[in-house]
Amino acid sequence: MIVLGIETSCDETAVAVVKDGSTILSSVVASQVAVHHPFGGVVPELASRKHIETIGGVMNEAVHKAGLGLTDIEGVAVTRGPGLVGSLLVGFSFAKSIAYVLNVPWVGVDHLEGHIHSAFLSENPPSFPFVVLLASGGHTGIYHVTARLQYEIMGRTRDDAAGEAFDKVAKMLKLGYPGGPAIDQLSENGDPKRIPFPKAFMDESRFDFSFSGIKTAVNRYIRTHPGYAEETANIAAGFQESVVEVLTTKLIQAATAKECRHLALVGGVAGNRRLREAVEAEAKKNKMTVCIPPLDLCGDNAAMIAYVGYHRLQRGEASRLTDDVYSRSSSPHPVFQKTGFQV
Ligand code: KG4
Ligand code: ZN
Repeated sequence: MIVLGIETSCDETAVAVVKDGSTILSSVVASQVAVHHPFGGVVPELASRKHIETIGGVMNEAVHKAGLGLTDIEGVAVTRGPGLVGSLLVGFSFAKSIAYVLNVPWVGVDHLEGHIHSAFLSENPPSFPFVVLLASGGHTGIYHVTARLQYEIMGRTRDDAAGEAFDKVAKMLKLGYPGGPAIDQLSENGDPKRIPFPKAFMDESRFDFSFSGIKTAVNRYIRTHPGYAEETANIAAGFQESVVEVLTTKLIQAATAKECRHLALVGGVAGNRRLREAVEAEAKKNKMTVCIPPLDLCGDNAAMIAYVGYHRLQRGEASRLTDDVYSRSSSPHPVFQKTGFQV
């Protein structure tokens, strides 16, 4: 089955053509970084306008790159939430129209569920059961995945998402947007031990995170050290090291608690070189296997949405034209239900 995946939850307009769930025929991602860069963060109104301008062209490019025509599409999968409502609505309405015109089934897909399953699009997908750390700009959580589309959340951030902390600290250091890749790059020239920042491990028997303390500590350091600009690389490296250590430790603790030997690392922050290295090293030390998808599957993309959509359509879980998007991961949000998507 050929599925057209569509993702517009934030600032990337992405369309992919995927065969039978896992064969990516094309995956096109149009980034809006240039639009939002001058503002130091995503401006929702500009994001939705840009999606409207871009989505038609991105879809044509994806279908063309797949070597197909529109009439070859047999199903449509689109991100339903969580995300920016204006942005989500562009992709969601577009998907409804395409499915209606082509007279094919379509399904709304949870964005986080897409990230969690992105591991299956990599060359060495994880075996079940596995424990996955999803770290992105909007969400950070640990999930225990027992079967495809079957997972439970073990812990999540109590305040900022990991990527959000990277972006906010980068803004404090005037490194521009998006901040994650900038801090990753700059940390190469810094000493992670020179300025130690706090690590919030919270209760060890739980797998929740908190990043606001580290963020505040960086802010305090900047305010109390007028010559901080000389130390930018050390601040970046120290901050990154703290976040990486917390994420890695919690992931290993969660897998150990579940007596699980397989790990995965997904989401935009999974592109962080130090985090990839640390998770790989700790997994090896604990005799666990780890799947970290390639960079283009870590950040927002539509192939992961097509993957989940294909499997939902195979189960006969098509959406209805009256369905709407959702902005937040709150009840009855699928990810917080024990057995996965049931809406
Ligand atoms: O998954 P994603 O593309 O979008 C969301 O669903 O949020 O994640 C984007 C986030 C941004 O906060 C960005 O700064 C962060 O991922 N990010 C990184 C790196 N690359 C992207 N954070 C740390 N190091 C990176 N190399
Ligand atoms: Zn995402």
